[in-house]
Parts: sequence; C-alpha cells; structure tokens
Amino acid sequence: MKICVIGCGYVGLVSATCFAECGLDVICVDNNAAKIDLLLEGQVPFYEPYLEDLIKKNVDCNSLLFSKDLNAHIADVDAIFLAVGTPMQSDGKADLQYIYSAVEGIRNQLKGYTLIIVKSTVPIGTGDEIERTLLKSVAKENFDVVSNPEFLREGSAISDFMTPDRILVGCENDNSDKIMRDIYASLIANNIPYIKMKRRSAEMAKYAANSFLAMKVSFINEIADLCEATNANVKEVSKAIGYDKRIGNSFLEPGPGYGGSCFPKDVSALINIAHEHGSELRIIEGVKASNNRRKDLLSNRIIKKIKIGNNGDVVSILGVSFKAGTDDVRESPSLSIISNLIDSGVNVKVYDPRAIENYHKIMPDVRTCITLDEAISGADVIVILTEWDEFKNISLSSLKNKMKGNKIFDYRNIFNPETMNKLGFEYYCLGS
Ligand code: UGA
Repeated sequence: MKICVIGCGYVGLVSATCFAECGLDVICVDNNAAKIDLLLEGQVPFYEPYLEDLIKKNVDCNSLLFSKDLNAHIADVDAIFLAVGTPMQSDGKADLQYIYSAVEGIRNQLKGYTLIIVKSTVPIGTGDEIERTLLKSVAKENFDVVSNPEFLREGSAISDFMTPDRILVGCENDNSDKIMRDIYASLIANNIPYIKMKRRSAEMAKYAANSFLAMKVSFINEIADLCEATNANVKEVSKAIGYDKRIGNSFLEPGPGYGGSCFPKDVSALINIAHEHGSELRIIEGVKASNNRRKDLLSNRIIKKIKIGNNGDVVSILGVSFKAGTDDVRESPSLSIISNLIDSGVNVKVYDPRAIENYHKIMPDVRTCITLDEAISGADVIVILTEWDEFKNISLSSLKNKMKGNKIFDYRNIFNPETMNKLGFEYYCLGS
C-alpha cells in the first residue's frame, strides 16, 4: 500500500513515520521547502522524543520519502492523508485555507481510485465540502473522503500513534472502510479497537474529545482553588475521584491552565460551530473563560507576594513550553503569565530546557537563560510553569544555596510542600 501524507507538522510527520514503521510506503509532502530540506538532511523541525531515530530508520529502508513536489507523487498512491494545520482565526473559527489549498493541489492530479483521508481537525461538514470540491474534476467512483481524526499528544506522539485507545474512522461506504482497515492492519492486529461511524460523527468526536479533556483540566483547576480556600488537598481529591471508573484518573492534575496548539483552538472552534448552528455550549464556553481567567489569577498571586520596582525581586521562570516533553510554546500559559508579570514591572528571567528558542522568537525582549543554573542563581523568586524532569530532579539544597530569596511558586505541584517548608522555602503550590 502506497500513501501520501500532506503536511509535515506534528500530526503529519509522526503519522507518516509511524505508517512507514507499520509497513506502508509513505511519501510525506509539505510546501514549506525549508522544512523538507531539513528533513532531507535528517533533521526534525521540532522536538519530539524518539522521532528523529524512527524517521532515519524508515528513510534508510526507503519506506519513508520526503518531497516538496506534491504533483510528482499523487498519481500512483492509493490514499492521501490531509494532515495540514487548521489554526485558530482571530474570530475563534478554524482556518481551513491549508485544507482547501491541498484539495485544490490534488484535485486535477488524481489517477484511478484514490482515498482522501482527513486527519486534520476540521469542523463538522468539512468532509462533505471537500467531496463537493473534488467532484468538480474527479468522477464520483474515483474517490471517497474519509474522516480519521488523530488523538496523539505532543511529547508522547509515537507511542500514542502506535498504541492508541482507538482508531476512529468516519466513512460513508464499505470500500473506504476496507481500505482504512488495510491501512491500519498492523494496529488492528494488535487489538486496537477500530471504530467506524458516519463521517460527520468522527469530525464531531475529535472536537468533543478535546473539549471534554479541556473541561477536565479546567474542572480540576477550579477544584484546586477551592481546596486552597477550604484547606482540603487537591492531590487527595484527584485520587479520590479518579478511582471512580466513570471519572477516570487522567487529566486531573492542576496546572497553570491548558495550552498548546489543540485545546484552545478546538474549544474555540467548537463554540463557533455551535453558534453557527444556533446552539449554545454553555459548559464549553465556561471552560474557555475559566482557562483564560486562570492565567491572570495565577499571575496576580505572584504579584501580590513579591517586591516590584527598580530594586524589586528577580523572578526566574522555569518552563515556557505548554507542557513537558515538547518545545512548543503555542498558547502556552507561560506567555500570558510572563507578560502579566512584565507589564506589572516585575524583573523576569526565563529558562526552558527545550523551548527557549521558540519562546525567544516570539518574545525577543524577555531575558532568557541558557542553563538551569543561570536561571536559579541569584533569583529571589522561582515560578515553575512546566513539569520538566530537569526541574523535578533539581537538588533542593543547592537550589536553596544558589537562590537569593526563598519564594517558590510551583504551578505544576512537582515538589512536596512539607519538604519545601522544612528546607526553609516559602512555598506556594496549587490546591493545598
Ligand atoms: C491534545 C490531546 O490530548 C490529544 O489527544 C490530541 O490529539 C491533541 O490535543 C490534538 O488535538 O492534536 P496535546 O495538545 O499534545 O494533546 O496536549 P495534552 O497532553 O492533551 O495537554 C494539553 C494541556 O493540558 C497542556 O497544557 C497540559 O499541561 C494540560 N494538562 C493536561 C493539565 O494541566 N493537567 C492535566 O492533568 C493534563
């Protein structure tokens, strides 16, 4: 089976590599020439654990090819995955320009029957629209459009792809279902559930899944605040409710708010989709508002407790990526929190083991540190925003010695409050 994946972002590149690993012949195409050049040199345009080695392995055995030239490959592939970005527009809707430009790019090049598979997260009904566009130049019997949303997470993308909770396929006929089962044959053989449904349901399920998970995160963040006010402990509460199988124990870690390229975008897009259909998603609107408010709330907690001004405290921020395991800073809570601190006159320096370059590109004027040691040395206050192992493994006694002050705001709950207090830190964490 020969497939083409259009788009070399997190989803496209990881999917293409994993499909090659599963035994398919894969051509991965992107119109960003610099990205393809990098990949052809054996480099990966972003940080994702184990991806570079897996790409190399599959390129070396010719199962994975990279190309800038879509037209050169389309005619002889069995299936084309659309895995381009669908970023958030300023009005909160999903921007589908990359989807439709990819569809325009292929619609006059298809030869024989080709299955078009939408992996990007797209509003409900986009599959129908793609079908209408293709029908302008391709005979009905020569293609089908399938929705196959992806559920991989950044930072654990390869294992998420190879051992997903389910493979979701939205298709309208048996032939496309059969091809999808062939594409995923090796995962299905490993007992991964394959769930077939209406195309529109699959499109909706992706938004519903991300919004539900965002809701879980916002829920536990609000419960954490209430635990602080009532002298309960959110770790214990998360454990207690997580044991209930109906609730489940994942996505119940309080933090500085959800970020990344998916939850904020998909929550906003779903709210817009509802409005377009004359419907209201009050819970999801509440999730969005709660997550936005959280960043101000957590910035204000710091501002209230520190010295600001010319001889004010030096605040060292540990972690800018939206979570550990990635160099991605898109919609990271750190962006708003750091900007809030700076706008209030706080003297800030910032460190991240992987994401500092990406942060510097968008916030070039903020002082950045190259090493953790540089970040903690002389700091009056430390604010932990990402749960990197490098921070978890820090020697607390040397942290104490190197800091000038003793305040720690741990917004990922990576330390034990009793230990921190015993060591003489003024320690603020979430939910206790
Ligand atoms: C998310 C979904 O989890 C994936 O299933 C989906 O495929 C992906 O979006 C997508 O649509 O492409 P991702 O954005 O990589 O994946 O990140 P998550 O691991 O889901 O975390 C999202 C945010 O929630 C992060 O800011 C994280 O720190 C926060 N979070 C998560 C918490 O604050 N607490 C938790 O308990 C879990």
